[in-house]
Order: sequence, then C-alpha cells, then structure tokens
Amino acid sequence: MALTGFFLVVFLIVHCYINANVLFSNAEENFNRAAHFMGSNILIRIMEIGLFVGFILHIVQGYKLELQNRASRKSRYAVTAGNKTSKWYSRSMALLGTLILLFLVLHLVHFWVPSRFGGLTEVEYDGKTYHNLYAQMQDIFAVPWVVVVYLLGCFSLSWHLLHGVQSAAQTLGITSKNYFQTIKTIGIVFSIVVPLIFALMPLFVHFGWQINTGDISLLF
Ligand code: HEM
Repeated sequence: MALTGFFLVVFLIVHCYINANVLFSNAEENFNRAAHFMGSNILIRIMEIGLFVGFILHIVQGYKLELQNRASRKSRYAVTAGNKTSKWYSRSMALLGTLILLFLVLHLVHFWVPSRFGGLTEVEYDGKTYHNLYAQMQDIFAVPWVVVVYLLGCFSLSWHLLHGVQSAAQTLGITSKNYFQTIKTIGIVFSIVVPLIFALMPLFVHFGWQINTGDISLLF
C-alpha cells in the first residue's frame, strides 16, 4: 500500500503542476500545450500503464486490508475504542478511498476517455494542432453539481492523504523520531496544499477567474 501510494503521490504532483496552468493568464494555450506534451510523450504513455496498474493494486490492497481489519476487530472487541486510539480519518480510509474511486471514474469519463478515444475539439498554435482540453474543462465545469462533486473529491483526497502519507512512512520503516516528525509535517502540508490547488481548478474555470501573470508563461 505504501509503495503504490507513494507512486500515486508522484503522479498527483505532476498532474497538479501541469493543470495549475488553468489558474493563470493565457490558461488555454499554456494548459493545452502542457497536456499535449503529457499525452504524446512515449515515456509518459508507458508510465500511464504503470499508473493504472498502481491505482488498481492500491485499491485491491486497500479493500483486502479493510476486510482483514474488520475480521480481526469483530473477534477481539465488544466495543470500539473510537477516538481514543485512532483518528477518524485513519478509521475511514476505505470509505474515503471509495469516494475517491467514484470521483475518479467520473473524472476519467470527463477527460481521459475523450482525450484518448475522440470527442475533443481542436485548436491551432503556431500551425500545430492540439486537443482543446481547456474547452472540455469549460464545458464540464459549467455545470454547478459537477463542480461540487469535484470539490468533494478533492476534500476526500485531502483526508485520505492526511493519514496515508504518515502511515506509509511508518510502513516503510522510517521510525527515527526526528525524521518521522519531518515526514509527518511534509505529509500534512502536501495533503492540504495539493488537493487545495486541485480544488481551485473547477472553481476558477467555472467562474472564469485567472491570476494575471502578464506575458510570463508560468508553468511548463
Ligand atoms: C480537481 C481538479 C482536476 C482537474 C481539473 C483534472 C483534469 C484532468 C484532465 C484534463 C485530464 C486529461 C489529461 C490528458 O488526457 O492528457 C486528467 C487525467 C487524469 N486525472 Fe485528473 N484532474 C483533476 C484532479 C484529479 C485528481 C484529484 C486525481 C486523482 C485522485 C486525478 C486523476 C487523473 C487520472 C488518473 C487521469 C488519467 C491520467 C492519464 O491521462 O494518464 N485527477 N485530469
């Protein structure tokens, strides 16, 4: 769980960085160019297979662990210790993970399916044709309930990561007290900042907001 989880964390950083283009000036061109690079680079396409395998392994392992935990809990305790021994989010990994899975299925139908199997409009920059994924975002995030579902997805991701990053460090044997505290702090910051940046995307696109950076092409 820890290793597949860490792999997914790396994916989240890259995904968040590329997509953050939609928050700044010249969002359409910058984001479409960056997404095109990700979609056409052969190394990244190979990694995509690893990504899907990573997701499936992480999900299957997660459910197996939850079933094991439930089985052992039932036979040992008459009452649960609740807040005394663990935080709510660490007891709810399966529930939060399931919400993220539902979000992910919807999300892939919105973007990945039309990007790989057709259905996107196209746009030209310097005589070269690109998928207009930004226009797809504008269509998808024009619908208020979709924006709300994405916000809930980002919130679930944040809670899921809050526990996941710390627990992964423990599993991988990072037990030195100072080191563990540092990892814990980085984990908490990451678990809040990355989902927050993701959450800004549907909001910015829905309301047509952009942070003005002039002519500077900020990311990528
Ligand atoms: C909330 C803001 C988000 C936006 C606006 C967004 C947007 C996009 C877009 C446009 C694509 C298609 C890229 C392409 O096909 O080239 C995509 C792909 C994908 N997204 Fe997101 N995403 C968001 C959050 C997330 C989160 C939180 C996760 C994971 C928990 C996620 C997982 C994925 C996956 C697995 C793919 C397919 C990867 C691939 O193309 O290889 N996304 N996303």
